[in-house]
Amino acid sequence: MINKERFEQLFSQHLIKDISEEDIKIVLSGQYGKALELLRDAEATGLFPALVGPPGVGKTILCRYFASLRVKEKKNKSFYWMTLDESIKPSHFIGSFDPAITLKKGFVLEAFNPGPLLSAMLEGGTFLANEINRATEYSQNTLLEPLEEASIGIPHLGRIKADDDFFFISAMNPEELSGTHRLSEALKDRIKVWIKLTYPDKTTELDIIRINLPEYFIVEESELELIYSIIDETRRNKIDIEIPASIRAGIAIAKMLGRRRFLEKEGKLKEGQSVYEYLSEISKYVLLGSIKPKPGIRVESIIENVIHKTLGA
Ligand SMILES: Nc1ncnc2c1ncn2[C@@H]1O[C@H](COP(=O)(O)OP(=O)(O)OP(=O)(O)O)[C@@H](O)[C@H]1O
Ligand SMILES: [Mg+2]
Repeated sequence: MINKERFEQLFSQHLIKDISEEDIKIVLSGQYGKALELLRDAEATGLFPALVGPPGVGKTILCRYFASLRVKEKKNKSFYWMTLDESIKPSHFIGSFDPAITLKKGFVLEAFNPGPLLSAMLEGGTFLANEINRATEYSQNTLLEPLEEASIGIPHLGRIKADDDFFFISAMNPEELSGTHRLSEALKDRIKVWIKLTYPDKTTELDIIRINLPEYFIVEESELELIYSIIDETRRNKIDIEIPASIRAGIAIAKMLGRRRFLEKEGKLKEGQSVYEYLSEISKYVLLGSIKPKPGIRVESIIENVIHKTLGA
């Protein structure tokens, strides 16, 4: 295990001081520009928005980008995000008392460690509740007051009113996908701007793949088109596939192909293969975990079909 001194040194080297320092490579054409505009509208009118869309369509990156703009404009306004699930308790986002200090001094302010939601409320920052519909009803209920009144009660300490700039964004996968719970009606009623994201149009998705490729990985336009056709094919087959390949899968295939091309150029590959051979091999590795088939359907046979249809191999 890493020693204490080295840990402290590396930790401070790697610490992200605030989100405005992060280099977020984002494509803002198509649905993303519109979604950003809606986030802006929600912010300006004091309404809390939700981003709804299947896995990997860019909900998180859009929130991070939006939060980074806010940090730049408002200075020192923080960004916190948390992914919710059944195991999350209100104390995880509100905060909790340190047992050792509480034992000595009782339930005093000094003994309280604020959680991310309370921190965002006090600092006027942005709080992103990822997968908000996976939280238990109990946790969802704790969010009602911050959303409705911009205030929250802390056990033993009292209530606080949030800073005027506090902003709460929810993100979730559409409810019909298995594994997610329902958003309570009460919470639903308090979210007033619903921003839907889906798989982007072709031009936008290809731009996203390009922006995510390292510079030295050259993938030709015709190859990118093929990659898109593979990804898009998984989104067309709604009979066998419950969750198709996301943007992440396209990026992964492009990176793997880019590396093969790079090695070829450096003369480090024994023998080159055609793009069809490369892509049918790479797609198998990437798609295996990127597609969720409907019950009773084998993912391998879906992949074979996709490759056959798009690459003819
Ligand atoms: N508009 C975009 N510009 C640049 N990259 C994008 C864009 N949209 C998505 N991506 C890339 O696609 C990947 C998935 O995006 P992200 O993590 O934001 O999706 P998500 O909707 O939050 O997924 P999940 O539901 O799984 O949490 C990331 O690698 C991200 O960099
Ligand atoms: Mg996400």
